[in-house]
Amino acid sequence: MKKKILLTGCAGFIGSNFVKTIACRSDVKSLYDFDIVDALTYAGRLENIQPDLDKNPHLAFYKIDIRDDKKINELFLERNYSGVIHFAAESHVDNSIKNPNIFVETNVLGTLNLLNASVKLFKDNKDFKFLHVSTDEVYGTLHEEEPAFTEEHKIQPNSPYSASKASSDLLVRAYYETFKLPTLITRCSNNYGPYQFPEKLIPLMISKAQKNEKLPVYGDGRNIRDWIYVDDHNEGVWVVFSKGKTGEVYNLGGNSEMRNIDVVKTILRELGKSEELISYVTDRPGHDWRYAMDFSKAKKELGWEPKIDFRTGIKKTVEWYL
Ligand SMILES: NC(=O)c1ccc[n+]([C@@H]2O[C@H](COP(=O)([O-])OP(=O)(O)OC[C@H]3O[C@@H](n4cnc5c(N)ncnc54)[C@H](O)[C@@H]3O)[C@@H](O)[C@H]2O)c1
Repeated sequence: MKKKILLTGCAGFIGSNFVKTIACRSDVKSLYDFDIVDALTYAGRLENIQPDLDKNPHLAFYKIDIRDDKKINELFLERNYSGVIHFAAESHVDNSIKNPNIFVETNVLGTLNLLNASVKLFKDNKDFKFLHVSTDEVYGTLHEEEPAFTEEHKIQPNSPYSASKASSDLLVRAYYETFKLPTLITRCSNNYGPYQFPEKLIPLMISKAQKNEKLPVYGDGRNIRDWIYVDDHNEGVWVVFSKGKTGEVYNLGGNSEMRNIDVVKTILRELGKSEELISYVTDRPGHDWRYAMDFSKAKKELGWEPKIDFRTGIKKTVEWYL
């Protein structure tokens, strides 16, 4: 009997790539059917996954908002899932500064609805698993010389987005401790790759440079992020879901720390455009200085590590956007 897994938020960037590279892999689809739930917010586009839905009968799509606890409960009871991989979220830090409430509604209360529905199914299925996709941003910020975040680092979010993700991480942990729900949390660094909504740094810069528009770079552009190609992240999510120890958190990182300005200059070089397009703008309030991930736990326990270096990944990404 094939198991049925619920995927949330897979009309968005990371989830749509997960559908293509993991959920449609022959070894995976021989064992699992997947239901995809997405509210199709501004960041979710059905066209990202429509070709995959058309070609693959083991995939089904439901337009449902995870904030709607009644619909979520009905769906869980009707479809009787063996597990959940939860990508859905409001994900853009700038939006969370303008309108924090929806971040709490979707990221915290939406996650709570999924946890409550999962507890009910777990009562009759002890193999049930809930994987929550989280972010390095819950750890806050690092100085230039500090060691990378480990899973033991304190949770110290600085934006409404990261605070809402940290809150949902804590709820997931609490459901493991209180209800014994088998949970897993992945915390990953900055992703890049195809199908990302052009509000985030890399697709925004590519699309503006293509049109010879000014490229807005926050502050002095020296903030540091650890970049991971989206396929490496999704492989990590699947490895953690398949082999991770429940109740645990696993950091996933790209081994590729770069200053924002260097990312922008690389994109301009790839496109053959002038650095004169760069325009420094007022910094984002509370802008974290540096993120860096220590993923030695995932490497040691699960044999996972990123495979795609930034030069290769950014070439593929620029080509896709062109
Ligand atoms: N992008 C990154 O660099 C990164 C890094 C680490 C972790 N993450 C996490 O990975 C997950 C996916 O991120 P992404 O970059 O693909 O985000 P995204 O914004 O591209 O996609 C989010 C998806 O969730 C859906 N969604 C939003 N609110 C919903 C709701 N109330 N009900 C149902 N669906 C809803 C959207 O329609 C969209 O399809 C998020 O949980 C994010 O916190 C992202």
